[in-house]
Amino acid sequence: MPTDDQQAQKQRVAAAALDRVREDSILGVGSGSTVNCFIDALAASGRRIEAAVSASEATTAGLRSHGIEVRELNHVGTLDVYIDGADEFDPHHRLIKGGGGALTREKIIAAASRQFVCIVDASKRVGVLGKFPLPVEVIPMARSYVARQLVAMGGQPELRQDFVTDNGNVILDVHNMDLVDPVGVERQINNLAGVVTCGLFALRPADVVLMATDSGVEEV
Ligand code: 5RP
Repeated sequence: MPTDDQQAQKQRVAAAALDRVREDSILGVGSGSTVNCFIDALAASGRRIEAAVSASEATTAGLRSHGIEVRELNHVGTLDVYIDGADEFDPHHRLIKGGGGALTREKIIAAASRQFVCIVDASKRVGVLGKFPLPVEVIPMARSYVARQLVAMGGQPELRQDFVTDNGNVILDVHNMDLVDPVGVERQINNLAGVVTCGLFALRPADVVLMATDSGVEEV
């Protein structure tokens, strides 16, 4: 659960992200509690967007509850802007995502967007990624095989309990993985048979990181 301070930071950075939204555009929207604050801020702002492309069923429900139309990515072209949170970011805007389990759709929308604006509170800032366990979405029948490969890579995978992704798959949360080379590790994990995607966003990092602090919001 976020502390009161953290919740206030999430709301502050969510409000600041409104400046990145072009009126009447089709906007990519990620998932998580910071994004939920953003959806509320967007609805309250009266800023009109044509529609949104959503990264999770939960986000879709949130957008629709405010009367915002949700479209399939397949039915729209390249998106101008994608707004999403993160579990960690490093000085190069590389991220760990997937705490909420929506990493695959988030990665697809990030790839299909010209600009990825990441909105975070100050607790998400790290020098080197990896304190947050790395989520990996896996086809269920490959769970044990992929877990053994991740152990061979030096990690300690743990099956996320009672959780199925929006795509019908499972998540392995990998502890203590050495992520000094996040691009190399992202490639290596994504190449394992049975992995749908891993929560490293290093090959396609954020373009902009907006970080809330106690006193305001800074572009990192
Ligand atoms: C979900 C994500 C979220 O962006 C990430 O977990 C951050 O969530 P929050 O804004 O609740 O801290 O990657 O898959």
